[in-house]
Amino acid sequence: MSEFKRKKILIFGGLGLIGSTTARKCIELGAQVTIADNREPRYGANDFNLHDLKGEFELKIGDIRQSEFVNELVKGYDYIFNFAAQVNHNLSIEDPILDNQINCIGHINTLMACRLNNPEAKLIYPGSRLQYGQIKELPVKETHPRQPLSVYAIHKNTAEQYYQAFFKHYNIRSVCFRITNPYGPRAQMKTSGYSIINWFIRQALDNKEITIFGEGQQIRDYIYIDDLIEGILTAAGNPKTDGEVFNLGSGIATPFRQMAETIIKVVGAGTLKQAPWPKNYDHFETGNFYADITAIKSTTGWQPETALKAGIEKTVDFYRKYREFYW
Ligand SMILES: NC(=O)c1ccc[n+]([C@@H]2O[C@H](COP(=O)([O-])OP(=O)(O)OC[C@H]3O[C@@H](n4cnc5c(N)ncnc54)[C@H](O)[C@@H]3O)[C@@H](O)[C@H]2O)c1
Repeated sequence: MSEFKRKKILIFGGLGLIGSTTARKCIELGAQVTIADNREPRYGANDFNLHDLKGEFELKIGDIRQSEFVNELVKGYDYIFNFAAQVNHNLSIEDPILDNQINCIGHINTLMACRLNNPEAKLIYPGSRLQYGQIKELPVKETHPRQPLSVYAIHKNTAEQYYQAFFKHYNIRSVCFRITNPYGPRAQMKTSGYSIINWFIRQALDNKEITIFGEGQQIRDYIYIDDLIEGILTAAGNPKTDGEVFNLGSGIATPFRQMAETIIKVVGAGTLKQAPWPKNYDHFETGNFYADITAIKSTTGWQPETALKAGIEKTVDFYRKYREFYW
């Protein structure tokens, strides 16, 4: 990751979970960081995420939907991370146009802006495991069919294809990721619609009931935020990843119930409650999921290091300390 020393880096959505953690790491590596964010209150923007690094990065308030803003902004950067997003799954169904404008048009704006004003930059796109839809074979390889079930997932998949097309047609370099289930410090904790581990940690810290559907045997792949960012940066800085798409997760299959029980044990509070699956859950439920991460490991040498319990412990410590800024 020494590649990033003195590099100029632009992070859209840099006040949120993945963006702010990327910014922290890039600053540590000696990069010159600019963050662009619209501080949209419904998502994860939180000034506290970078409060201790004031003066070490530049902040531009703006929106990826506005092409004039994006066109001007992209000039001169070596790497552009586009983490700005409509991240609320339920809202994507209630307001699919909003989701399309941020999660599709926002990316076209960035790609067009780079084509016009910075064709040398490398772009980084965070897609989702949800792009695969219903899972047919485990572990899920990048070649698994993609039949996304929700509007959010359809748009995440579409935007990935824009990055691939701009690489093919205009040689705009990019690397795309299909991220599993991230968790850790600096995620928003206000609603259940984002990181499920973070939400359960909040429930446990508030000594509330944690509801799991059915037997809680569904398998998920949870990745600790620091491992995720190391994976993103290691791949971004490697020229062999130009035009590639990688699964990015822990590669470990964890039953839902085990994850919830670990949280209750680490926090020392909260109780488990079983509930029937909600109506229409099968419209969105992908079935068991864990990622095959062989491709990113063999191309970049990266591998995740944080065991689930250790990651939960670090996350709980963070929110115990800084609860007032996230509740
Ligand atoms: N957290 C997850 O579970 C997960 C999983 C897979 C992929 N992703 C993807 O990773 C990316 C980052 O997610 P996150 O978890 O950090 O979310 P987050 O909500 O914490 O951060 C998103 C940031 O984008 C900003 N933003 C939203 N709309 C914007 C706009 N129109 N213009 C400028 N800024 C805008 C928000 O203010 C926020 O700071 C997203 O693309 C998301 O789809 C997240």
